[in-house]
Amino acid sequence: MATFQFEYHKYSTHHELILPHQQLISAARRVALQAYAPYSHFKVGAAVLLANNKIIEGVNIENASYPVGICAERAALSSAISQFPHETIHALAISIIAPSGANNSPAFPCGMCRQFISECEDRNAAAIPIILSGQSGEVWLIQTSKHLLPFSFSGKDLK
Ligand code: THU
Repeated sequence: MATFQFEYHKYSTHHELILPHQQLISAARRVALQAYAPYSHFKVGAAVLLANNKIIEGVNIENASYPVGICAERAALSSAISQFPHETIHALAISIIAPSGANNSPAFPCGMCRQFISECEDRNAAAIPIILSGQSGEVWLIQTSKHLLPFSFSGKDLK
């Protein structure tokens, strides 16, 4: 029997992470407040750390025609790649604000975003650590999108 396993880190607070990651989490938490989520009331903020130390942010932007909306992860990564196509992405932080008001635990990226992050990693010089949290509390650190999307489909398959 073959198995797939991966290790991830769980921190009880963002203070336990390295300073650049703390700053990235703070950016994701802050920008989540600016999400446009009038339908789900589920707000998401994402922040991308680039090799040039710039932080590029994105939020989920919903639409009355529901499938037209975009997730925060894809908004942030699209902006980062558009503005700085040659900068290596060092990390991605995602923070959520749930409509219930219970905002101290993370949510994981949706399947479409996992596929999107996976391709960003393929064009990147290195794996992209994914840092997940609510507005406060516990922080999860996943080393690569490939752990969230095992056996992923990629450009290699199209050859
Ligand atoms: N959402 C994100 O922004 N990222 C995810 O990975 C999961 C879902 C957004 C999409 C929609 O605006 C709202 O959260 C509820 O699904």
